[in-house]
Amino acid sequence: MEHPPRALWASRLGFILAAAGSAVGLGNVWKFPYIAGENGGGAFVLVYLLCIAVVGLPIMMAELMIGRHTRRDAVGAFIHLEGRRSFWLSPGWVSIAAAFIILSYYSVVAGWTLDYVYRSLAGSFSGQPAEAIEGMFGSLIGDGPRQILWHFIFVLLSLGIVIGGVQKGIERWSKILMPILFVLLFLLFVNGMLSKGAWEGITFMFRPDFHHLTPGSVLEAMGHAFFTLSLGMAAMITYGSYLSKGEDLLAASLRVVILDTTIALMAGLAIFSVVFSVGMQPAAGPGLVFKTVPVVFSQLPGGHFLAIVFFLLLSFAALTSAISLLEAQVAYLIDERGWNRKRATAFLAGLAFVVGIPTALSYNSLSEWKIIGDRVFFDSVDLIASNYLLPISGLLIALYVGWFWSGTEEKEELIAGGAGWIYPLWHFLIRFVSPVAVAIVLFFKIRETGLFEWLAGLF
Ligand code: PFF
Repeated sequence: MEHPPRALWASRLGFILAAAGSAVGLGNVWKFPYIAGENGGGAFVLVYLLCIAVVGLPIMMAELMIGRHTRRDAVGAFIHLEGRRSFWLSPGWVSIAAAFIILSYYSVVAGWTLDYVYRSLAGSFSGQPAEAIEGMFGSLIGDGPRQILWHFIFVLLSLGIVIGGVQKGIERWSKILMPILFVLLFLLFVNGMLSKGAWEGITFMFRPDFHHLTPGSVLEAMGHAFFTLSLGMAAMITYGSYLSKGEDLLAASLRVVILDTTIALMAGLAIFSVVFSVGMQPAAGPGLVFKTVPVVFSQLPGGHFLAIVFFLLLSFAALTSAISLLEAQVAYLIDERGWNRKRATAFLAGLAFVVGIPTALSYNSLSEWKIIGDRVFFDSVDLIASNYLLPISGLLIALYVGWFWSGTEEKEELIAGGAGWIYPLWHFLIRFVSPVAVAIVLFFKIRETGLFEWLAGLF
C-alpha cells in the first residue's frame, strides 16, 4: 500500500510535551501518591525509581525506536519489520487492544474529574459537612446517566484534539495544556508546602520504612512504572513514529521520564500535606482524590479556588493521556487500512464511548453483572488491560528488540541522535533485565488475580 508522507512533530519541545502528556495522567496524580504512602514511603520511592531506570526507560527507548525506525503505527511497525505472517505482530496487536480497552474506561474516570470540575466551579463543596462531600462520590458512581454524559463529553474533547492531526491537534494542545498543568500543580505544591501539614506530608512520602516494603510492593512499583510511562499500549511506538531522525532517543526519553516522576512526587506532596494539615488520614484509591481532597479543600481558606485548580489539573492530565491512547489506534486505521483521519477518529472515539458505557454502569444498573471472579465490568476490563495485556506486550517488545531485531538497526537508531555510547548498557538491560523483571510481574499478577482458576473454571 502507498503511504502518504508522514507527519512529524514540529519541534522537540512539542514531542516532549506530547509524550509527557501521555505519561502524566491519573496514574500520577491519584495512584502514585497513595501506593507510595502505603508501601513504605521513601523505600518504595527508591524501588520505583530503580524500576523506572532499569525497566521503564529501556522499554520506552525501545518503543520510540521501533516507531521512529518504521514510521508506522504499532501493528504496521511489526509488519514492516517482520512481514505479515510473523509471530512478532503479536506485541503490536496486544498493545493496540490494550489502548482500546484502557481508553474506554479511562475516559469514564476522566469523566468523573470533569464532573468534579463542574461541582467545584458551582461551589457544591463549599460549606458542606464532610459526610455530604464524601457522599457525592457515591452518588456519582451510582448515577449511570450522569457518568455516561461526562464520559461522552470527555470522549468528544479527545476526538476534537486528535482529529486535528499530529501537529495541529496533539502537539498544539499539548503545548497549551501541559504548561497550564505545570502551573496548576506548582500552585498546589506551594500551597501544600506552606501548610502546616507539609512536614508530615514529606515524611509520609519519603521516610524509608522498609517494614512496609514487601515483595508485593516491588511488583506494584514495577507495574506502576509501566502504566505511568504509557508503555505497552502502542502510544510510545506511535509517538516515536512522528519523531525526527536526528533526535537523541536517550535524552528525549529521559526528559519524559523525569517530568513524569517529578510530577508524581509533587502531586503526592501537594495532596498529603493538605490532608495532614486538616488532621485527616489519607484514603486509598479513588477515595483519595474524589472524597478526601474535596473535603480537605472545603475546610481550607481559599479552598473553593484550590478545588477548581485541582480538578482542572486532573482533567488536563487525563485528557493528554487519552489523546495518546486514541492516536495509537487512529494511526493504525490510517496507516494500515488507508482510512482518513476524520473517519478513523470519529469511528474509534464512537467505539470507545460505546464500550465505556458498561463501565459507567458498573456501580449502578450493572453492579450484579460479574465478569471475572466477582469483579464488575469495570474492574474486569481494568484487570485484563493493566495486569495482563500491558506486561505481555512489554515482555514481547523487550524480547523482540533485545533478541530478535536485526542487531544493527536499533544501534543505528541510537547513533543517529548521538546516543550510541549508551548502546551496550541499554542492550544489556533490554535483553536480560527488563524481560526477566516483566515476566516476574506477569507471573505474580496472574497468580494473584486468580486467572488460572478462572480459566480452569471455564473448562
Ligand atoms: N500514563 C497514564 C497515567 O499515568 O495515567 C496512563 C496511560 C496513558 C497509559 C496513555 C497508557 C497510555 F498509552
